[in-house]
Amino acid sequence: MTEKMYFILGVVAVLIVLAGIVLMSRVRSARAGNALGAVGLVLAVVLMLLKQQLLSNTMLWTAMAVGLLLGAWMAARVSMLGMPQMVALLNGLGGLASALVVYSVKTPASSPFEYYAGLLALAIGMVTFSGSMAAAGKLARLLPQRQVVLPGHSVLSCGLLLLMLLTIAVWPQPVILGILSLVFGWIFAIRVGGADMPITISLLNSTSGVAGGVAGIAIGDPVLTCIGAVVGASGLLLTQIMCRAMNRSLLKILFSTGSTKSEAKGAPAAEPGAAAPTEAKAPEADLPAILRSAKDVIIVPGYGMALAQAQAAVKTLADRFAELGAKVRYAIHPVAGRMPGHMNVLLCEVDVPYEQLHELDDINPDFAACDLVLVVGANDTINPAANTAEGTPIYGMPVLAVAEAKWTVVCNLDTGPGYAGVPNAIYDSPKTILRLGDAKESLKQLLQMLN
Ligand code: TAP
Repeated sequence: MTEKMYFILGVVAVLIVLAGIVLMSRVRSARAGNALGAVGLVLAVVLMLLKQQLLSNTMLWTAMAVGLLLGAWMAARVSMLGMPQMVALLNGLGGLASALVVYSVKTPASSPFEYYAGLLALAIGMVTFSGSMAAAGKLARLLPQRQVVLPGHSVLSCGLLLLMLLTIAVWPQPVILGILSLVFGWIFAIRVGGADMPITISLLNSTSGVAGGVAGIAIGDPVLTCIGAVVGASGLLLTQIMCRAMNRSLLKILFSTGSTKSEAKGAPAAEPGAAAPTEAKAPEADLPAILRSAKDVIIVPGYGMALAQAQAAVKTLADRFAELGAKVRYAIHPVAGRMPGHMNVLLCEVDVPYEQLHELDDINPDFAACDLVLVVGANDTINPAANTAEGTPIYGMPVLAVAEAKWTVVCNLDTGPGYAGVPNAIYDSPKTILRLGDAKESLKQLLQMLN
């Protein structure tokens, strides 16, 4: 294949990947976007095989077949709750692949530009690998979930970074650089608390792309450079979107020393016995009547729905409401759950129609007029303290205006604060009816009241 042909087809592959990413930004076309992105990447791999004349390399085909089977097996087995760690694992392997590509082809014969690009790709790739392994380990509960802050953590991180830069500039030893980068990536990632890991994973996704892009420069491959740049840029954008939606800065997430739990001005006091289940405040007998008379119902899912695996029970209840003539919609907060699109995926799994899913800005004006809000394992994303509690991690985060609804039935495990640790006044509202305990069980009881 000529250079020109390789370049033209490479551009086509990159455009296909970009088109896939555009489609992924809308729920309805996300599956098609995912498939299209995969097609673009397969095209890039085939191009590389053709250009390097590797089609007859049996070892390569064997390695690809093993990778393909392993990937398909893991993807088929993974649950939605395990998805962030799987993504972390894949990012890490991407980083390692970039590092190894550069390591294997670097020779002193390369131009200085390529040589230093190679060392940079090696460093970024190894940081991505060890950081992602630490992230996956935390999320899979193989490592402590909490933040691990070593004595002099910041000094250690800065010192290692400096040593890595010096190794690249003054004493270019790939093995030493690789080891330093591995250690840096590890201590960078263990500092982040488990629940903030999805953001770190998105950042590491970006660095895996950057490593690939820089590796492409080092080996003089424009297709690898472009695809790496696309992955790097989209990962960075996603990281930024997640931080904005949580109203937290990336630096705070990566380098803070405290947990997210906090008490601050404007936040309701935490109840000492908050975690203990309590009875509904409205008379129990009222609940069936409230449920039956509701004609406009908004369901608010959160991380607790994912933990309880209650999405099917939610759908069954929503169907029953619809049978009784109610209009049912779902309010999806951008950071509900623990990863972007978490709720959308769970609800789509049980065939909730896309048109019933509404984003925060679209549905917030409708809460005041609706008859009933059903909260299923959501807490921070409905916490009105986000509007008033200065100094808390959620202060300034737009929240779903559940407090404005006529009635709110909360199916949460307990009345403890959510992930950010800020007490939630919704539990104390006279318009709130609590159904505490596992959401799946609570939803079953609500269904019985409607039958
Ligand atoms: P959370 O604030 O985490 O609240 C979940 C609620 O569900 C808690 O009250 C929890 O009780 C309850 N729960 C746990 N298990 C349950 C079960 N089996 N049945 C019923 N309820 C159960 O969830 P949220 O409202 O979805 O907010 C998400 C939070 O995660 C936000 O603070 C967000 O900033 C953060 N975050 C999001 C992302 C993305 S991208 N989505 C990434 C990182 C962090 P316990 O507290 O007692 O367990």
